Amino acid sequence: MVEVSTSILSIKEGEESKTILGLETSKTDYFHIDVMDGKFVKKDTYESMLQNASYIKRISNIPMDVHLMVEDVKEAIDDFVSIEPNIITFHYESCKSKNEVMEMIDRIKENNCKIGISVKPNTNIEEIYEFLPYVHMCLVMTVEPGKGGQTFITDMLEKINKLKQYIDENQIDIDIEVDGGINLVTAPKVKKAGANILVAGTAILNAVDYKIIIDELKE
Ligand code: DX5
Ligand code: ZN
Repeated sequence: MVEVSTSILSIKEGEESKTILGLETSKTDYFHIDVMDGKFVKKDTYESMLQNASYIKRISNIPMDVHLMVEDVKEAIDDFVSIEPNIITFHYESCKSKNEVMEMIDRIKENNCKIGISVKPNTNIEEIYEFLPYVHMCLVMTVEPGKGGQTFITDMLEKINKLKQYIDENQIDIDIEVDGGINLVTAPKVKKAGANILVAGTAILNAVDYKIIIDELKE
């Protein structure tokens, strides 16, 4: 089954509650919370995401999918568990050692959240194979993390394909999420390559009817 996680990164200022309510009634499968610290990526969305996510927690039962694009993963885990997300995903590239990767996995697990690990476009997927048995999801970035509205990097299809083959051959039961430049043109391609959770921001937020685009992305 394919699911859609709507990124709230590009919500227009002042329209936060209206948009979130619209997405809630259109039954997005997840709200994707893009946490940026101004260090791992240029933008800083830390406080605004904490605020928006707390609002979502108050008004909605739809699960939250937290994507940490931060240097200090530990601190961000501690701050964002307060919004009781379903899953917290951190970047492999934020960790200085393999030990640190395992520490972050354990820390998320201790907080009763599902665990996701993410790779930037230039990171070889083989680098994270050893961690896959300990996580629930692998997030393959299909743009450079940092902002919404970028163009999908076509080379990433091969990476998704490779990962899908690897998890099938080794009977590892995890979700493959893709994030960046997902729209009605790229969605069929990533699904064919093996992705089963699609993050979309601008494609959904710019659509006239959220429900129609969410359904079309899943088809
Ligand atoms: C990029 C973020 C994405 C992004 C998706 O750093 O992780 O979640 O906002 O936005 P679109 O769908 O516009 O590429
Ligand atoms: Zn994201």
